[in-house]
Amino acid sequence: MHIDILSVLPELLESPFAHSIMKRAREKGILHVEVHHLRKWAVNAYGQIDDYQYGGGAGMVMMCEPLVNAIEALSAKRKYDEVIYLTPDGEKFNQKTANSLSLKENLLLICGHYKGIDERVREHFITKEISIGDYVLSGGELPAAILVDAIGRILPGVLNDETSALFDSFQDNLLAPPVYTRPAEYRGWKVPEILLSGDPKKIEDWRHEMSVKRTEERRPDIVE
Ligand code: ADE
Repeated sequence: MHIDILSVLPELLESPFAHSIMKRAREKGILHVEVHHLRKWAVNAYGQIDDYQYGGGAGMVMMCEPLVNAIEALSAKRKYDEVIYLTPDGEKFNQKTANSLSLKENLLLICGHYKGIDERVREHFITKEISIGDYVLSGGELPAAILVDAIGRILPGVLNDETSALFDSFQDNLLAPPVYTRPAEYRGWKVPEILLSGDPKKIEDWRHEMSVKRTEERRPDIVE
């Protein structure tokens, strides 16, 4: 999968894909992430990419021209399945969206700043608008990093244990069960006996039961 990211602060996106699972995904050639500096398509030598908003009011708006030129230049090299704008007024990101985006070939992510991008770019070029939650961040870079991480880790071949993503919270609309590691007793606190039983069927049933219980208690909104 190839993901291009358009940003005015590419430095913010250097570290998130350089470690751990994302690093592995890139090294294995399963995930290609390229960050493009929007100022490359600035309207003048000062690197201008934003301007005052019509109608007045505080806050700058990212201009059509640099964004459209960037989107068209990148689209000439690659046919995007989705051109995604990260914005607090987009559809709320969840595991289902991550799963469906992980099946795509090429994605272009647009990171907004200031008051956001000119509405005409949204109307004519953006195919999907995504919010990572009901709060406002200072730009779309951290949301873009979250999208890439959530999508990248479930691409086939990225995780060593092929099955492990299947047991993540939300994968089947259930939260993950509690987990324990050695020692079996710490400060008198014991690991549930069943996990030490060596009986795979019993363990699987217990985990499922715990997942259901946890989901009912913590996230009744996602219980079907
Ligand atoms: N940009 C600023 N806040 C955001 C959010 N909550 N989700 C996606 N993009 C954003």
